[in-house]
Amino acid sequence: MKEQYKVGVVGATGMVGQRFVTLLENHPWFKLTVLAASGRSAGKTYEEAVGSRWAMATAMPESVKQMVVQDASQVEEIAAQVDFVFCAVNMKKDEIKALEEAYAKAECPVVSNNSAHRFTADVPMIVPEINADHVEIIDAQRRRLGTKRGFVAVKSNCSLQSYVPALHPLKEEFGISKVLVCTYQAISGAGKTFETMPEIVDNVIPYIGGEEEKSEKEPLKLWGHVEGDQIVCAEKPLITAQCYRVPVTDGHTAAVFVSFDKKPTQEQMLKAWAEFSGPSQQLNLPSAPKQFLHYHSEDNRPQPKLDRMIENGMAVSIGRLREDILFDYKFTCMSHNTLRGAAGGAVLLAELLAVKGYMD
Ligand SMILES: NC(=O)c1ccc[n+]([C@@H]2O[C@H](COP(=O)([O-])OP(=O)(O)OC[C@H]3O[C@@H](n4cnc5c(N)ncnc54)[C@H](OP(=O)(O)O)[C@@H]3O)[C@@H](O)[C@H]2O)c1
Repeated sequence: MKEQYKVGVVGATGMVGQRFVTLLENHPWFKLTVLAASGRSAGKTYEEAVGSRWAMATAMPESVKQMVVQDASQVEEIAAQVDFVFCAVNMKKDEIKALEEAYAKAECPVVSNNSAHRFTADVPMIVPEINADHVEIIDAQRRRLGTKRGFVAVKSNCSLQSYVPALHPLKEEFGISKVLVCTYQAISGAGKTFETMPEIVDNVIPYIGGEEEKSEKEPLKLWGHVEGDQIVCAEKPLITAQCYRVPVTDGHTAAVFVSFDKKPTQEQMLKAWAEFSGPSQQLNLPSAPKQFLHYHSEDNRPQPKLDRMIENGMAVSIGRLREDILFDYKFTCMSHNTLRGAAGGAVLLAELLAVKGYMD
């Protein structure tokens, strides 16, 4: 791999884009060289283009304030300036698909937060601790696109980043037959703050468009396998989900109910979580949490406000493990939706792809 990669952010002015900008400020391998967004922002300085939309707890980095935002549709121009791009844009699905493929065809790898390509059979959807081996499908995708370097890789939806990591080591060891999950999702997941979503104050909204389907189906692609030129989704476990929007700034919580093929003891489950590590930890990737899964023994944890920033927002918190009368067990999970669940997860995926040589 190279010592440093030049990186662009497409959708840099949005909520996830701002996260990328803050995460890339001092990244040891990736240097932010291009900021791109819609024609509305193009030609303005980043500071002007974002204006009052800056939603991060830390100030906008000085290094980006005067950078001029480029028009994301100028694909060839942008591709010539970078080694790869991160993409998080708010556009129609077919437009996003076309935009991401255009970058890939311009020999510019795309690491995407968007859902448009998550079920394209030769596009890997990766949580590095769970299915890093899916990177190998990129060769088949490059053959389809007719590219040497260019490809699209995606990360999964933010809601499932809280509970799938907790289920993963249990699935490996004990087999999982069924899962019921209710998610309580933060407003930053909709690109909102309390100022821009006043209707959420003192309220719960029992609908997030498309989220329940994603929460039920995407885990099966993560747990699928590479077969020829496609990723074949796993057939089980059965997952049913309800997703609510709640008045929390950052951090998605999930109430999880699970039944196993071979019911473990609580001690075995706690041990599986404590001992779990994946390729991100083994390869010592710069954004990887040292301990991916943190179990909290207090009855009132995890809480978004207290626990979302553990390990720089890249860990998953678990708590309240107990037996259930309908399922084998129930417990609570929580993860930071714009860090582990979005930009942080994408940076970690890009680090994996760089180590594996796909960015060269
Ligand atoms: N927020 C989360 O936690 C989260 C988590 C996972 C995935 N995602 C996904 O990430 C994507 C972005 O989400 P977000 O919350 O960051 O949205 P957002 O705050 O609304 O930002 C949208 C970004 O897209 C850009 N954009 C809009 N239309 C465009 C166009 N025609 N051409 C180029 N750029 C365009 C905007 O640029 P302008 O400023 O110029 O309009 C802005 O930079 C979505 O696909 C979302 O589903 C979000």
